Amino acid sequence: MKIKRASKLNGIIRVPGDKSISHRAVMLGAISEGTSHITGFLNGADCISTINCFRSMGVDIEYDGGTSVVVHGAGLYGLKEPREILDCGNSGTTTRIISGLLAGQDFHSSLTGDASIRKRPMKRIIEPLRAMGADIASVNGNDCAPLRINPSKLHGISYDLPISSAQVKSCLLMAALYAKGETVIREPALSRNHTELMLKAMGADIVSLGTEVRIVPGNKLTAGDMDVPGDISSAAYFMGAALITPGSDITLENVGINPTRDGIIRVFRDMGGSLELQNLRTSAGEPVADIRIRHSALHGTEISGDIIPALIDELPLIAVVSSFAEGSTVIKDAAELKVKESDRIALVTKNLKAMGADIEAAEDGFIINSHGGPHPLKGALIDDAADHRIAMSFAVAGLAADGETTITDPECVSISYPGFFSDIDSLLVHNPQ
Ligand code: S3P
Repeated sequence: MKIKRASKLNGIIRVPGDKSISHRAVMLGAISEGTSHITGFLNGADCISTINCFRSMGVDIEYDGGTSVVVHGAGLYGLKEPREILDCGNSGTTTRIISGLLAGQDFHSSLTGDASIRKRPMKRIIEPLRAMGADIASVNGNDCAPLRINPSKLHGISYDLPISSAQVKSCLLMAALYAKGETVIREPALSRNHTELMLKAMGADIVSLGTEVRIVPGNKLTAGDMDVPGDISSAAYFMGAALITPGSDITLENVGINPTRDGIIRVFRDMGGSLELQNLRTSAGEPVADIRIRHSALHGTEISGDIIPALIDELPLIAVVSSFAEGSTVIKDAAELKVKESDRIALVTKNLKAMGADIEAAEDGFIINSHGGPHPLKGALIDDAADHRIAMSFAVAGLAADGETTITDPECVSISYPGFFSDIDSLLVHNPQ
């Protein structure tokens, strides 16, 4: 995919449904009683992996590849032993959250995924699940998938997550639904809380207080309809593109702005970005707004501490945008970037350097120095390592860079945003040159 410099972005779009919420709507719908009608579902490869896993466990799911899904809930005890190894594809969310659910079932199961998933750390779920009494093991003994799970009796735990992670927290919440007694989970900083909100709405006995969540099993889950809000992590690419491209003025409709996810808005505003929230409302228990973004003169900032989980997936994009900001941007406390779909610290640094940026990698982030100005980057060949967020972040860089940028594996955007390139196209006005 070749990207050329755009003169500006103008127009209104609706980004696809939130990936995290789409996963959870299917997962919790599957173990609830009744029928869930899900609209605004993200038809990305990751969420389709989740649908396929539950179909393999006998759940009746009506889905034809679009944005509507009907899940006929099997109830907490209605899942069936899968005949095959569950294939989670590229999805860490599917792998980790389903593992917690499987730990509480009275059948044997195994799950795996693609080459990236088979390298991602699973010790973070294996250890606390074992502490709950689970029989779970990494088949190759390397603390990665494939994972094998045998039936066992679970009991509640009180657990302090060493690193904030919504996938680990949600994994343990799923196991807790099948455990004897209360489970209490604390994390260093609050990660996305979609699982907690959805479980509460479905009738679970769950209470969140700051960075602590308590859940007591026993209540059945009742299915409900859900209109999934637009994904702020997908919206972020257009926010970034509009902020760095002179003359831009765009509106993104129906974006989820849950405070555990809105770090990108806070940081872009802090950098001097013009982001206006309009039409604030609630959809399916999640706060939603339309966001108008205009090109702005940006300055550097420091990003660290408790805000990191609220923008973890946006950090590659923030690094790109920082190259257009006056001064230094320091990103710290984000060592988790090394164990995402790729090593995002290494790849962001390599690719931004190839585009001529002044970036230094750190153990837990990066430092970017820039003099701002209209065109600080030049086009380059981008190694995206089939990581969707790297491909989209550098497509944005290419829109504002001099010359031509080549994204090596553009198809990987279908993990979270199949229509990304056509949506970009619908907003941008190319230079005639
Ligand atoms: C997600 C949690 C985050 C995030 C991922 C989606 C989720 O991962 O990076 O893209 O849906 O729970 P971690 O839990 O590893 O921080």
